[in-house]
Amino acid sequence: MKPIRKIVIPVAGHGTRVLPATKSTPKEMLPVVDRPLIHYVVEEALEAGIEHIVFVTGRGKGALEDYFDHAFELEAGLEAKGKTEILEDVRQPIMTPGSLSYTRQQSPAGLGHAIWCAREIIGDEPFAISLPDVIIRGKPGCLREMVDHYNKCQGNIIAVEEVPREEVNKYGIIAPKSTDEALMEMTGMVEKPSVEDAPSNFSITGRYILQPEIFSLLEKTERGAGNEIQLTDAMAALMTQQPFFACTFSGESHDCGSKIGWLKANLAFATDRPEFVQELQSYVGELF
Ligand code: G1P
Repeated sequence: MKPIRKIVIPVAGHGTRVLPATKSTPKEMLPVVDRPLIHYVVEEALEAGIEHIVFVTGRGKGALEDYFDHAFELEAGLEAKGKTEILEDVRQPIMTPGSLSYTRQQSPAGLGHAIWCAREIIGDEPFAISLPDVIIRGKPGCLREMVDHYNKCQGNIIAVEEVPREEVNKYGIIAPKSTDEALMEMTGMVEKPSVEDAPSNFSITGRYILQPEIFSLLEKTERGAGNEIQLTDAMAALMTQQPFFACTFSGESHDCGSKIGWLKANLAFATDRPEFVQELQSYVGELF
């Protein structure tokens, strides 16, 4: 069995749903409490044992590369002033040299196309994908739980969660065979179905473990929902060839690609920080 060593994180999107905040800042750099979204996503990947991160990036995303690199002047300044705690925080996202790769998606042709852009770096091994709009609160992280499932059953695994019926048209939706098991088998999946046509209300959350055969299927995938090459369509094809499971997870997902989702995430993640809880609670009480 080949272990899950690499992850693809597509970061080329424009963040249209949170404009104007993302006009000149990559959406992945929007802060939740005191660190950018991408920090939480990378932390979750490292907790799951991932060793190599592949960012599929685009124009204007340089701040992301800088975030995962040393900032010598800043670090030297903090060191000279003895601000060791802040210095530790500033150095925390820096990974071993060579364990990050960047490749560009040169045209906005959809999530499926973004993942396909990473094919050469991933090579012939199973890998994970995390969509950075979604951050997940709670330990163990969603990817850790998925890797644990993978180590028992192999194949392909996607994380799913129930969403209100009227919101199914915002997501990839699965058709589960039965919803009793921790690992659900499926008869199909569809990207952004209408409320009437949705096969269930289990949405694809943005965490995936896939076999490398997905790349040849992506190569053949025609444009689908939104006139984009959809990962969901290629996965639906892969499902007819290999074992494929959906799993729920114990954490709480936050869609920070939407304004309300991002606002709620800030409150939820702040409650995990003892230094903010009391003041925040009384302030929110005063406001509402
Ligand atoms: C993408 C996927 C979709 C998934 C969603 C989760 O859609 O295509 O299947 O349910 O992420 O956030 P997007 O939000 O990029 O339109």
